[in-house]
Amino acid sequence: MYLLELGGEDDAFAAREAASAATGLRRIAPGLAVAGGIVPRRIRGLAYTHRASELLGRGAADLASARAVLEAASIGREGSVAVRATDVHGSSGVSTERAERELGGILVDRGFSVDLDDPDHLLRVVFSEGVFEADADGNALERAEGDGPDEPTGERVSVCTLGWLTAESVRDFGTRAPTDKPFFQPGSMDPLLARAVANMAGARAGATILDPMCGTGGVLVEAGLVGADVIGTDAQAKMARGARENLRHFLERDEPSPTGVSRGSWHVGRGDATRLPLADDAVDGVVFDAPYGRQSKIDTHRLEDLVAGALAEAQRVAPRAVVVADRSWAGEARRAGWELEASFERRVHRSLTRYVMVLERRSP
Ligand SMILES: C[S@@+](CC[C@H](N)C(=O)[O-])C[C@H]1O[C@@H](n2cnc3c(N)ncnc32)[C@H](O)[C@@H]1O
Repeated sequence: MYLLELGGEDDAFAAREAASAATGLRRIAPGLAVAGGIVPRRIRGLAYTHRASELLGRGAADLASARAVLEAASIGREGSVAVRATDVHGSSGVSTERAERELGGILVDRGFSVDLDDPDHLLRVVFSEGVFEADADGNALERAEGDGPDEPTGERVSVCTLGWLTAESVRDFGTRAPTDKPFFQPGSMDPLLARAVANMAGARAGATILDPMCGTGGVLVEAGLVGADVIGTDAQAKMARGARENLRHFLERDEPSPTGVSRGSWHVGRGDATRLPLADDAVDGVVFDAPYGRQSKIDTHRLEDLVAGALAEAQRVAPRAVVVADRSWAGEARRAGWELEASFERRVHRSLTRYVMVLERRSP
């Protein structure tokens, strides 16, 4: 069993991304999920998961409980250790410094040496408290603070988990801020969201991912860095040229990417997302970020027709798609033959909410 420490503001979204790197994933408390199995190299490429640890035990979110778990655990490891504790969103009020000191003391009593700089084994201790309810799949859903009295009451959880660090995600997204890329245009997707939607669409070594409205190529860069081969089209020649510049810059390097995989191949051309020059089932997943507002960049399309046409083409060429937009487009997706597997609303700022739809091709 593994413990995943989720990042960002939306655990449901983080857990959906993490499912691309883990099996049997289930959220257990704010910021925390457990999984039956993980693929460490994919954990390294996640945007909204920080770490995965091999679960040693769990208890309630207080220090006495954490001590009891560690004292009772059988530890089949040798070498030096360090303890790192976190209190998710400060929810439990446990002193993490004291937890690190006291739990480290227990490990010393059990014969381990402590090496804070370069330990052979790092024990992750996570405290989390919050209110949860279960969805239809038995997954715990986090509930917002301040929900009104009419809302169904959830279960209050108090959890402490202890586990040996197995894999950490590579936090290098700051090096790919849209404004720092060789080609920048307003409206570029930030690399964290781009990585998450690429992962949700199935980006990994051996898979091919298409962004038919690729803009500056933000999604394709992130998909390529986790090893996927990527294809992009954009209606504007300027965008296709710019995306090529960005992909050349980030994907044409000899050394493996920071996540440890070989960068994927890339191909970008000018094209219309409603009439793709691709055979049926040509790719494994499609991601697109639909134009915002009323106007598309192609005079011949209204935005509604553009999105409906792009959804239909995506459904022809791939079994899975992730669509990001300023509205839901769920009705158009269903009419194009998709099933809505999950949907999320992400507030970017006061006047912009991004909708993310995860789509699976409906079986005939
Ligand atoms: C919101 S932007 C995509 C931004 C992109 N995700 C990024 O990170 O730069 C939408 C893109 O769709 C393109 N577009 C509009 N109509 C299109 C069509 N019919 N076919 C292909 N691309 C189209 C626009 O030129 C624009 O670059």
